[in-house]
Amino acid sequence: MKIHEVVKYPEAVLARRADEVTVFDQKLATLVGEMFDSMYAAQGIGLAAPQIAISQRIAVIDVSFKERPGEKIALINPEIIEREGRQVEEEGCLSLPEIREKVVRAEWVKVRALDVTGKPFEVEGTELLARALQHEIDHLDGVLFIDRISRLKRELVLRKIKKLQKAGEW
Ligand code: NI
Repeated sequence: MKIHEVVKYPEAVLARRADEVTVFDQKLATLVGEMFDSMYAAQGIGLAAPQIAISQRIAVIDVSFKERPGEKIALINPEIIEREGRQVEEEGCLSLPEIREKVVRAEWVKVRALDVTGKPFEVEGTELLARALQHEIDHLDGVLFIDRISRLKRELVLRKIKKLQKAGEW
């Protein structure tokens, strides 16, 4: 089992649009398995490949955090095809440790993606799952949740990060 290190803001790979996956081989399946292990090791409920410095459109989500194995989702080249409603909840990110801010998201989304074998499927979710789907797919487009808050709040967050960096805690 290989645990990948999660990179933090402002690592350039986090701000880049990730590449589509075109090869569905054992290497991809292994990487997805490692992404789940890395996500659990970091106590997260979602992880996108750019967060482990791999600029490819791959994300894993488990909002049950190992409680319900059927709810593990691996998304390759995912796209939000429908969205409805609005929710405002606090969000965090493994690439922005200690930062939590309220973010406006759709209440419900439907996502089309490919599985590790390249087979298309759709997944829909509300509440936390909807939030995780939107947050992880944002990562594949180089967007972090702090890009979706007010300019003032973003400035406060960036100031806090600078302080943590100075203290050697980032
Ligand atoms: Ni994140």
